[in-house]
Amino acid sequence: MIRLKEEEFAEIVEYMRQSYGINLEKKKTLIECRMSKELESQGVTTFGRYMELLKKDKTGMTASNMVSRLTTNYTYFMREPAHFTILRDHILPELSKSSRGILNVWCAGCSTGEECYTIAMILQDNRDRTGKLLNYRILATDISGQVLEKAGKGIYTAKEVEGLQADWKNKYFRSADAKTFCVEERLKQNIRFQNQNLLSPYMGTEQFDLIFCRNVMIYFDKKAKETLVKKLEASLKPGGYLVIGHAELLNRGEIKLEPVFPAVYKKNREKLR
Ligand SMILES: C[S@@+](CC[C@H](N)C(=O)[O-])C[C@H]1O[C@@H](n2cnc3c(N)ncnc32)[C@H](O)[C@@H]1O
Repeated sequence: MIRLKEEEFAEIVEYMRQSYGINLEKKKTLIECRMSKELESQGVTTFGRYMELLKKDKTGMTASNMVSRLTTNYTYFMREPAHFTILRDHILPELSKSSRGILNVWCAGCSTGEECYTIAMILQDNRDRTGKLLNYRILATDISGQVLEKAGKGIYTAKEVEGLQADWKNKYFRSADAKTFCVEERLKQNIRFQNQNLLSPYMGTEQFDLIFCRNVMIYFDKKAKETLVKKLEASLKPGGYLVIGHAELLNRGEIKLEPVFPAVYKKNREKLR
């Protein structure tokens, strides 16, 4: 394993914090473990030299490889299931009255896709159960090219889909063999995957009825978290909902949004006046 010198460690921590908001201050060993192979594949033996290459690389590929290795991408279908019950029983009935026929959803920090496909299954199931033809489109974004590649393919192992109820596995997946489950085209066609840094100053102006941004800011420092929360607020339509991870609760002073359920916030029309 290639060891980090103190000044190299400080440089990487600062780079990841400045560029992506990710706090790696206590992750020296993690950086060494996850990056050593990457350095070897580039033919370099020190982190200092690797950072020189990264800064010179105008294609952004070296930076992208480093980010893919240093982000935590842990996720699974139906993670934090209480949110999906709230979505089904409270948020969707309300938004189906106010949204004009099409629900615009953003899954920010989607990792390998389990979260945005879970949302799509809930929305599709809502259509099937209520007969209400609420159309939807989902923008699913992440900073890691590697996870987005898997998300876009929508192919999972039997172990990865084990948290899903059996009838949903039949309804929303094709299974090539007993071990491989491929997300059905009718779900995939409503989802766009995009590589996007949530801290980039160049973000779109699209407005959403519903934003899921769960277990992303948990890895951010305070300043990056504040910047992200402001962006998420601004990207919500009036009356829209923001869902964050249960471990990421926001202080009332930090936001203009109204807490309405655990880790669920609403952009109230009244508060905007
Ligand atoms: C732990 S996963 C959470 C996945 C999913 N939201 C969930 O709750 O299961 C965090 C994801 O956030 C992404 N991420 C971290 N920093 C980011 C940034 N600055 N911009 C966009 N995505 C970021 C990581 O690449 C990772 O895939």
